[in-house]
Amino acid sequence: MKALVLSGGAGTRLRPITHTSAKQLVPVANKPILFYGLEAIADAGITDVAIVVGETEDEIRQAVGDGSDFGIDVTYLRQEAPLGLAHAVLIARDFLGDEDFVMFLGDNFVFGGINDSVDEFRKTRPDAQLLLTRVPDPSAFGVAELDEQGCLVRLEEKPARPRSDLALVGVYLFGPAIHDAVRAIEPSRRGELEITDAIQWLLDRDRDVNTTVITGYWKDTGNAADILDVNRRLLDLLEYRVEGDVDDASEIVGRVRIEPGAVVRGSRIAGPAIIGSGTLVQDSYIGPSTSIAEDCVIRNSEIEFSIVLRESSFDSISRVESSLIGRNVHVSRGPRVPAAHRLVIGDHGRVEISS
Ligand code: G1P
Repeated sequence: MKALVLSGGAGTRLRPITHTSAKQLVPVANKPILFYGLEAIADAGITDVAIVVGETEDEIRQAVGDGSDFGIDVTYLRQEAPLGLAHAVLIARDFLGDEDFVMFLGDNFVFGGINDSVDEFRKTRPDAQLLLTRVPDPSAFGVAELDEQGCLVRLEEKPARPRSDLALVGVYLFGPAIHDAVRAIEPSRRGELEITDAIQWLLDRDRDVNTTVITGYWKDTGNAADILDVNRRLLDLLEYRVEGDVDDASEIVGRVRIEPGAVVRGSRIAGPAIIGSGTLVQDSYIGPSTSIAEDCVIRNSEIEFSIVLRESSFDSISRVESSLIGRNVHVSRGPRVPAAHRLVIGDHGRVEISS
């Protein structure tokens, strides 16, 4: 079995972070979201992996390399434009040959990995196996309609009036019949070759399409709130490990990881939280569900339920919460008078000021 990992796309809902970085490389609990997917694939015993890349190819290549860090062998396939998930299958034809494969969307997060699904697929060998999960906002996803016996009757991509609350999770298992399907379908209204339409094509021809409804945690990390939520869930699993330099005037409470090379002075860190190497936390409070990446400086500030990417700083700011802060961002106090806010914010930035 092979794997096809999709890591193209513009990440418009995650701007401005994605102006300078691939959405799949935004770190949660200080590790790029894509890495969790690659680890799940490796854990399922799949080593032959193609990553479909777009404009952010260089960055993805730099982060993942040849895959040896994950125990996998990575081939890169360039998709010239984001023409859809089925288009990605189309351009991967030579790589995939007639082998079974798992298609994994690089911005999806599946807690608990994919081993169960892969085992199930290997046993039953359908033409396609889909994972479904109940969501409150099905019209944002591919939606499955099942009959009373639980058999799949229809799939629709982002329907205005969803027929169920069962969304398609971004992990699909396919046999070789999908290649005929992706060749046969036409682009959708949004101009993409939809994998949902390709699977519907299989269904219409009475091919074998299985579904499993998962109850575990899944997230398509489309926007900042999703990323913060995945971060919170991951940090909840963190093990206490303090390897950085923490002085006696500091208090560390709960599940906290302080990486080697981090320095904590006169601060309170209430986990779950992670502090990256090379970061200084001084006279500050770092609250639950917070990931501070490498080489940051947090001074005289209070931050919680947030992600701060590397080389950023906060000086005398309280209190920051529910925030996603990019790389090399500097937030500090201005002079007392005039009491004005001075902002240099990138395109598509968002700021909420409470005073
Ligand atoms: C894609 C699929 C959709 C699926 C979703 C899962 O949507 O088209 O059917 O439910 O991934 O993340 P997209 O992320 O391209 O909007």
